[in-house]
Amino acid sequence: MQTDKKDTILVTGGTGFVGQSVVRRLLQSGRQARILARKMPLRQPDNTSVEFRHGNVLEPQSLEMAMQGCAGVIHLVGIIRETRHQSFVQAHVQATENVLQAARAAGVGRYIHMSALGARENARAEYHKTKWRAEQLVQASSLNWTIFRPGLIHGPQGEFTTMVVQWHAGKAPPFFFMPYFGGGLLGQQAVTRVQPVLVDDVAELFVRALETTKSEHQTYELGGPDQMTWPQMLEVFNTALPGPRRAILGIPFWLATALSMFPLPGLPFNRDQVMMAGEDSVCDLSALTRDFPGFVPRKLETSVREYIKSIGVI
Ligand SMILES: NC(=O)c1ccc[n+]([C@@H]2O[C@H](COP(=O)([O-])OP(=O)(O)OC[C@H]3O[C@@H](n4cnc5c(N)ncnc54)[C@H](OP(=O)(O)O)[C@@H]3O)[C@@H](O)[C@H]2O)c1
Repeated sequence: MQTDKKDTILVTGGTGFVGQSVVRRLLQSGRQARILARKMPLRQPDNTSVEFRHGNVLEPQSLEMAMQGCAGVIHLVGIIRETRHQSFVQAHVQATENVLQAARAAGVGRYIHMSALGARENARAEYHKTKWRAEQLVQASSLNWTIFRPGLIHGPQGEFTTMVVQWHAGKAPPFFFMPYFGGGLLGQQAVTRVQPVLVDDVAELFVRALETTKSEHQTYELGGPDQMTWPQMLEVFNTALPGPRRAILGIPFWLATALSMFPLPGLPFNRDQVMMAGEDSVCDLSALTRDFPGFVPRKLETSVREYIKSIGVI
């Protein structure tokens, strides 16, 4: 489907870390962005190409109204930890069902879906399992869909980058070192690999998917250009950030697992996160580079050096 440059695209999760980058990219592409927001901003943005609609993905009526007149939907809503108000099943499965149904009812032509690397039926983590269930709903729908499964997404304002910056500054637990979950009795073995991708590269693909028929009915795994262990990734930040270098030390998986079973207030990780960190989170980018010619994900080292200046580090 070739979308008209003036098309309006609804973005669920448009107020979040990835969502803000996607909205910027939509505007650069000449489209109108409509953001579904649980909390409306105090004042409408100056840019007339952005509008906010009050809504919640768990309230189907608000979704259908927000989608009126839209040519496409980019569905980003998701959570990394459950809250008293929202379970993984609600935020991933129920929400996707509601968004798909509203898109059909509103006659929306194009649907781009945010999943996650590692989503699969028999995953250990609930996060991955519910992401997989949501994918099944998307694939069974009559909409013209594309699914992306990114690994770890980094960028200024992202939860991961913010946490690493705080570790480096000694302002977040464990305060005295930058931690990763490691194998062995003392956690000294870096056993798993990651492939961090820059948030603006993710946004580029979500918007380019609206423009290419090749991406219709495709599921893409998505990562950056570098596969590395957790300590190697932390070392990139350690080198780029101003101030004294921090030690990078492993917390044994056995200890992290035990702690997450009886979580104390303030424990900065949960059981799902420990289980996910215990798996490789890497992928093959060949399908992406085939269908999105010219797409070159940026290296972690280069992009961290660039954006670290802009976040006015501590
Ligand atoms: N960050 C990563 O490393 C990563 C990696 C792979 C996949 N993903 C996926 O990417 C997506 C976006 O992640 P993110 O890092 O941008 O997260 P985020 O910053 O926490 O953003 C989440 C967004 O979802 C919205 N939201 C949550 N529940 C909602 C509801 N019931 N109704 C309407 N909006 C709701 C939030 O709105 P409020 O502003 O009202 O809170 C926010 O805009 C998620 O699906 C996540 O699973 C992220």
